Amino acid sequence: MTEQKATNITRHEHNVSKEERAKLNGHKGAILWFTGLSACGKSTIANAVDHKLYLAGKHSVVLDGDNIRMGLNKNLGFSAEDRAENIRRIGEVAKLFSQNASLTLTAFISPYRADRDKVREIMGQGEFIEIHVDASVETCEQRDPKGLYKKARAGEIKNFTGISDPYEAPEKPELVLDSNRKGIEELAGEVISYLQNHGYFTA
Ligand code: ADX
Repeated sequence: MTEQKATNITRHEHNVSKEERAKLNGHKGAILWFTGLSACGKSTIANAVDHKLYLAGKHSVVLDGDNIRMGLNKNLGFSAEDRAENIRRIGEVAKLFSQNASLTLTAFISPYRADRDKVREIMGQGEFIEIHVDASVETCEQRDPKGLYKKARAGEIKNFTGISDPYEAPEKPELVLDSNRKGIEELAGEVISYLQNHGYFTA
């Protein structure tokens, strides 16, 4: 648990409830938490889903690993401790967006089960949708769009997930996307179907 340093602070309740905002938006707020190896397709699928949601008039936002690490989390590296803090901060930011009844799509490797479970715990029932973008190390290494697997194999990147650092796959994700065999469009469609079939769209 992260220690709370501040004292003499009081929580303010919002005048407009999450439910009222959801009604206005025509859909509930939730985090769609994409997890998987580097180059498994997390960001690409998240952005494809985001585009479909936009076209359908839904409110969504994408938080992406590499981008967030250039700003909000620029002081964090890839030790287990820093990854935990990375995921904790993203979870809190995603929660804020979700309270605004936005569909918040996060694309982080988030290799540790405990870190992902902590985000699940701060969310309400049904507000954390864990999506395992399942692609093997072999598949990701073949794609290697940023040349990082090559560098990791050469020992130029330490603690690289899947090569010299662990990846703990979700045990009970809400959704598994087979990124070894299926393309982006099909997988993005599966995410939209999940939202439709589970009552996230209310209008
Ligand atoms: S996480 O593990 O803390 O969730 P995050 O998703 O934010 O990782 O960042 C992963 C991205 O950082 C990768 O897609 C890759 O571009 C880059 N990266 C740089 N070093 C590493 C490393 N050691 N392990 C994994 N990804 C790395």
